[in-house]
Amino acid sequence: MEKIDPALVPMRKLYNGAEIPAVGLGTFGSDRFGHEEIANAVKEAIRSGYRHIDCAAVYMNEKYIGKAIAEVIEEGTVKREELWITGKVWNDRHDEVEEACRESLDDLRLDYLDLYLVHWPFPNYHAPGCDVDSRSPNAVPFKIENFMKTWRQMETLVEKGMVKNIGTSNMTQAKMELLLKDARIKPVVNEMELHPCFQQQELFDFMIENKIQPIGFCPIGSPTRPDRDKTENDAVDIEDPAVQKIAERLNIHPAVVCVKWAVQRGQIPIPFSVHKNEYMSNLEAAIKDPITEEEMEELKSAEQNSRLIKGQVFLWEGAKGWKDLWDLDGKIAR
Ligand SMILES: NC(=O)c1ccc[n+]([C@@H]2O[C@H](COP(=O)([O-])OP(=O)(O)OC[C@H]3O[C@@H](n4cnc5c(N)ncnc54)[C@H](OP(=O)(O)O)[C@@H]3O)[C@@H](O)[C@H]2O)c1
Repeated sequence: MEKIDPALVPMRKLYNGAEIPAVGLGTFGSDRFGHEEIANAVKEAIRSGYRHIDCAAVYMNEKYIGKAIAEVIEEGTVKREELWITGKVWNDRHDEVEEACRESLDDLRLDYLDLYLVHWPFPNYHAPGCDVDSRSPNAVPFKIENFMKTWRQMETLVEKGMVKNIGTSNMTQAKMELLLKDARIKPVVNEMELHPCFQQQELFDFMIENKIQPIGFCPIGSPTRPDRDKTENDAVDIEDPAVQKIAERLNIHPAVVCVKWAVQRGQIPIPFSVHKNEYMSNLEAAIKDPITEEEMEELKSAEQNSRLIKGQVFLWEGAKGWKDLWDLDGKIAR
């Protein structure tokens, strides 16, 4: 499909009334795609109907994406207020959120962001491209006192008009409960890993109960991520039999089934692709040929508790392993 009328793409209403498009375009190319290539995809995707773009400073491409956004606004394709642009403060800027946000605004050539997220609940920094087993000597476990200092700065950004909404990413229930107790402005979203083989049902339900909209990253199970980000037991969503069966019925790629599942379940998927046929199929997924209720039920069988983004590089000295990042027994590891 060449173009989709953005008015056809469903919107999700956040607890504060803001409306966000139900599918966004991811922009993390890892080391597989160049910044220009991703920025060109953003430009063409907006020309073709995308209105929601998921950015982050750590993807190192905001300058390029900013130029692309400026061009589509300048040429009259879209008005600023019709776009939903998300940014994220990286772990090494938890103490200087306003400066980090200002830099992203400059790079993206915007005077406000629609949504700004704390990318990870830890201030733990790792060098780009470092080995997954490396541990930074400065890395520390989650501490709510530290996180609240960062969150207060996030709240100030809303008060200053630099961002319209604030949210979190990679939070667990235990951490979110602490934040909800003290937040003056509660997060509108939590961006979290969600795909058929990693449904996180309990955490998903917790977010919904608390009126926090889940945004789902790696919605297709990131099938072509670099080998260094793969482990032996990772499930492959697009090879799951329930996913493939629906793909055959609808004559679509299994990746698109993953996007449909996400939209119909109620999270906001942000699939990445630089290929027009792929990213248009992903947007079309939200407006055409829904999966039946029975198929949605069958897709529950795809669950394999297969977390892909384990976060090993954020571990501190003394941590036992990546599971310490995810509070699996309901307790925050120290
Ligand atoms: N908040 C966080 O901590 C966090 C973490 C990870 C990701 N994210 C965000 O989530 C976004 C998406 O995650 P992701 O990029 O890791 O994984 P993904 O969206 O699950 O997978 C992307 C890959 O799937 C393939 N694909 C996409 N659409 C397709 C289609 N219609 N048909 C066939 N193949 C298709 C593409 O492979 P080819 O390129 O080979 O065509 C693409 O590279 C990121 O870009 C980023 O914005 C956020």
